[in-house]
Amino acid sequence: MGQMGNNSITDLKPKLSDFRTEVLQGLMKNPKETHPKFLYDERGSNLFDRITGLEEYYPTRSEIEILEKQGLGIADYIGERSTIIELGGGNGSKGSILLRSVRSPTEYILVDISRDALELAVENISSKYPGLQVKGVCADYTNYDVMAGLGIAGRKSIVFLGSTIGNMEPGEASQFIANCRKIMSGGDTLTIGVDLKKDTGKLERAYNDSSGITAEFNENLIERINNTFGCHIEKSAFRHHAFYNAEKGRIEMHLESTKDQAISLDGVAVNFRKGETIHTENSYKYSLADFVKKLEDAGLGSVVYWTDSGGNFALFSAKA
Ligand code: AVI
Repeated sequence: MGQMGNNSITDLKPKLSDFRTEVLQGLMKNPKETHPKFLYDERGSNLFDRITGLEEYYPTRSEIEILEKQGLGIADYIGERSTIIELGGGNGSKGSILLRSVRSPTEYILVDISRDALELAVENISSKYPGLQVKGVCADYTNYDVMAGLGIAGRKSIVFLGSTIGNMEPGEASQFIANCRKIMSGGDTLTIGVDLKKDTGKLERAYNDSSGITAEFNENLIERINNTFGCHIEKSAFRHHAFYNAEKGRIEMHLESTKDQAISLDGVAVNFRKGETIHTENSYKYSLADFVKKLEDAGLGSVVYWTDSGGNFALFSAKA
């Protein structure tokens, strides 16, 4: 427990993923794949921050627009004297926009697997809201025991922004919502940021930006593999490939092999045919009706949503 004035961080020491083992396992699969969490080493996180400021990448500014314009409506729905629990809130900047409107929050609890992000967010929110009790919990919020262990008395509002839910497989997303539901009592709320289905061109431009930052973000995985396994895969050996898979309702990000090649990882040969890919991320897009149903299927009700002026993104809230 680290004390920071009125605020504290509880470190539940989440089990960190083993990049070496998991990446190797993923590359032995057919088709080859790696979990999207592996895109976020320090360089990857910095590149992602740059993506959020790009003209073509509309989700971040669309969500901020909703938080700024609809703050009062969201705050009304959440109600007063609620403990706000923000899951994976990055540097806390979106949470602090929401806090402008929420009435008399009892406490603000941030849960994040990254201790560095958590410290920054606690500091950021505490400095903007000096009278508010702010707590950080370093833990994996997709683990139900972590959520159940928060042990909050009184009204709760769980907030999950950034359309991170889109990077979960649909079944995992439903399980995550059901886990939130299990720790909610009558009147508690869950608010989730979701990227909406839209014109394919706009979706594909957001993941193929003209400055090539998303390509760098994806290709950074090769650099991470080189650094971890001590190998020397050239940058030109793989290229970024992102497209909308309409049937599955998701953007898929891949690293495509530009030639037939074999790479050796810890003495294991991994062979690639030219054009073969490593599937590095899915980003699911939902229709308004799809997501309302998803919340209701998980046992939540009174679903409401707010969208940005372009109709690109939605914030959904639901009650237990
Ligand atoms: C973090 N997540 C919601 C982003 C997304 O849009 O799925 C990650 C990302 N991948 C490429 N660009 C952004």
